Amino acid sequence: MKRKISLLACPMILLLGYTSGSMAGRGAIPIEVLGERIFEDQDLSINHNQSCASCHDAGWGGTGPDSIINGAGAVYEGSIPGRFGNRKPPSSAYATPSPVFHFSTRGDGQFVGGNFWDGRATGERLANPAADQAQGPFLNPAEQALPDAACVVYRVSMASYAPLYEKVWGAGISSIAFPADTDSLCGQEDVTIQLTAEDRAKVEMEYDNIALSIAAYEDSPEVNRFDSKFDAGRHGKLSEQERRGFELFQGKGKCAACHVSSGRNAAFTDFTYDNLGVPQNPENPALIADPTFVDSGLGGFLMKRGEPASVYEPEIGKMKVPTLRNVDKRPTPDAVKAYMHNGYFKTLKGVVHFYNTRDVKDRCPGPFTEAEALAANCWPAPEVAENVNAEELGNLGLTDEEEDAIVAFMKALTDDEHEDDKDCGHRKKGRRHSECDD
Ligand code: HEC
Ligand code: HEC
Repeated sequence: MKRKISLLACPMILLLGYTSGSMAGRGAIPIEVLGERIFEDQDLSINHNQSCASCHDAGWGGTGPDSIINGAGAVYEGSIPGRFGNRKPPSSAYATPSPVFHFSTRGDGQFVGGNFWDGRATGERLANPAADQAQGPFLNPAEQALPDAACVVYRVSMASYAPLYEKVWGAGISSIAFPADTDSLCGQEDVTIQLTAEDRAKVEMEYDNIALSIAAYEDSPEVNRFDSKFDAGRHGKLSEQERRGFELFQGKGKCAACHVSSGRNAAFTDFTYDNLGVPQNPENPALIADPTFVDSGLGGFLMKRGEPASVYEPEIGKMKVPTLRNVDKRPTPDAVKAYMHNGYFKTLKGVVHFYNTRDVKDRCPGPFTEAEALAANCWPAPEVAENVNAEELGNLGLTDEEEDAIVAFMKALTDDEHEDDKDCGHRKKGRRHSECDD
């Protein structure tokens, strides 16, 4: 984005009431515990082999937990072997503060909010982008691939946590008359479960409740922890290099123009959209399957939903500004992560170097990977050449030490507790795992 984003994003978040961390100081409420159980339930996929957590692992900062995949195409296989989407999983944490997708008329005007890289989980359905989002993966053929929302509701009704579900949402779910062969039908593609109109209406309501449970979990202080070194001492705990990095992040590096870092519980995003000119990831399975594949991001979504060219054309190639919280979080130092919508980058140093030198270096003679481009001292062409932001990045004039300081600062955005601390002895006030309740 181009203008005063910190002024812009905050009032919207407050108005919409999605401020994360609002539950800090009290234990998880049943809907959050329920949401976590659903998030982690592999039975909610066609082959009983994939949950939300399969692609959004807390120990990896809410992104994909596989070094080999992250080191290459960065796109995760779905429940059905050989099926792939075309994007890298962004963090599922810190997604809930995003406001409902809308056009803000501030300045020159711009789109703000929603979930997904292209904003298509707008929040217009359930007044909550994270809840709209949560209805996608279960039925996406390249993800959990269940053939009918009724299958998700049926499997939740049969799950070990069904009593908790009924405690939160009432016993309506157990009154749905599912056909006797529902279980086997739900293991097949292109199937619609036959239900009475009344039961179909109930399924729709419970499917909304399932999504709202997940969104409540994603908005809980267990997920949106705000307890990194950056938060802990109100910056007092940062090392000298990290503090220098923070200064550069807000100043010469211009990062905070989009990754908002001011205010309490900063989300490190303003939920707007930009085309940074990130190169195509030559290992993206979508590109391998179709060499003409181009990710048109927000503009593609707006076009699909029928907006006129004057609306979608300026947005082609723009992606949602992601949070930078837990951007370096990984289970072991040698674990590989991927960055940007297509996972082109594998290192934070490479990312910062790109912001710094995108418009300075020569164009690579082909579709080089990050490592190849760094070795050859060039950058490949952008995936989408239109609408590239040349005002806030491309030639920042940072020294090598300054780049390193910004990287060090981003590493200080890792929340303290790790997923494998599922040990109630470690829990802090208001922050617990569902295991600790039972
Ligand atoms: C096969 C891997 C996979 C599975 C399974 C999966 N996701 Fe995702 N998730 C992704 C990818 C890829 C994206 C980005 C897709 C896009 O932008 O088009 C994403 C995006 C998201 C986002 C958006 C974050 C943001 O800031 O915009 C959230 C939240 C999320 N997923 C939560 C979930 C939930 C909840 C489930 C289970 C119901 C789930 N995911 C299942 C891969 C996965
Ligand atoms: C003009 C807005 C803007 C500015 C300025 C900006 N970013 Fe970004 N940042 C984005 C957008 C948009 C993306 C996603 C782009 C994509 O996927 O194609 C992104 C992605 C990232 C990612 C990848 C995160 C992930 O989960 O994949 C990192 C790391 C990052 N930015 C760090 C920085 C740093 C460090 C700076 C300053 C040197 C900076 N950004 C400046 C908008 C911005």
